[in-house]
Amino acid sequence: MIDEILKHYDDTGTLSDEDIRYILEHEDEAREPLFKKSREITERYFHKKIFVRGLIEFSNYCKNNCYYCGIRRGNGEVERYRLSKEVMEHTVEAGAAMGFKTFVLQGGEDPGFPDEDITEWLHAIKRIEPDAAVTLSVGERPKSVYARWKAAGADRFLLRHESFNPEHYKKLHPSSMKREHRIQCLRDLKSLGFQVGSGFMVGSPYQTVENLVEDFRFLKELEPAMVGIGPYVTHHATPFKNFPSGSVERTAICIAILRLLFPKANLPSTTAMQTLAKDGRNRGILAGANVFMPNLSPAAVRGQYALYDDKAAFQLEAAENLEELKRQIAALGYEIVMSRGDYMGKES
Ligand code: 5AD
Repeated sequence: MIDEILKHYDDTGTLSDEDIRYILEHEDEAREPLFKKSREITERYFHKKIFVRGLIEFSNYCKNNCYYCGIRRGNGEVERYRLSKEVMEHTVEAGAAMGFKTFVLQGGEDPGFPDEDITEWLHAIKRIEPDAAVTLSVGERPKSVYARWKAAGADRFLLRHESFNPEHYKKLHPSSMKREHRIQCLRDLKSLGFQVGSGFMVGSPYQTVENLVEDFRFLKELEPAMVGIGPYVTHHATPFKNFPSGSVERTAICIAILRLLFPKANLPSTTAMQTLAKDGRNRGILAGANVFMPNLSPAAVRGQYALYDDKAAFQLEAAENLEELKRQIAALGYEIVMSRGDYMGKES
């Protein structure tokens, strides 16, 4: 049956909802042939090259209270921090010296961090490294704000939709957070010309196979330049503390499905993969991921940006260990490349 699905995929270049459902319900049967196919497609477009992005987690303040997330507003255990512009600049300079050509500014939805400051930071980064791409990952904002950031040089934007199914979305978020608004933000970002990334957690509480099918269908309609997914990882100080973490195996299957659906998209092997399995990063790559995001955040704050327990932020997740990362990726048969790695599909 998986052979038929893959043969049909070769003929049509697509997977139906039934195909995706079948794969998710028959992971063991699907795994090897599916990964073989997803790697073949990845190689066709990316030639065993892995792009890297320097991740800067600049603020862990957040006004939202997502039930799964360790930096939710309601978690009083978190020591909150915001990087100063000076520290951010040093971080970018250090990353640029290592050769990074993409910087990702990620933070909670921090009301104490004015939109204009992000505009200034964008100007500063482009002054330090004019060739570098800048990706923002700072949540939901009015379209006018996104437009100003675009004008200031932001190239890409990451905003996971988290779950397309309305009931499931409500089970993951308080009622103040609206799924429709998030989707509107994604459409606004696309219309402004950002390379847009979306995504979801795999194995989040209450998630069904059908929810995943809906997530893939939504993404297919959005046609994003990037899709970030990772397993849900339990955090001890959230309302979901008693739910088990998601599975690395199922996440790898979902990465492979994404590769079939989006041959040219930039798909990261995420930190959450590496957090749950010591070879998680490699398993993402072997399933069809082509991006890795080493952590450039200053070591002093790295432990405080804990979206989930035991988050991998040191060893090869740490940008200072780039050379060792290069060696290990080479041992896997891939090559880390330092280019910007822009989306090569059609522009929005
Ligand atoms: N486990 C895995 N991923 C998480 N995120 C937030 N909390 C968790 C968790 N407990 C993800 C969300 C968010 C991204 C920045 O991190 O999908 O969009």
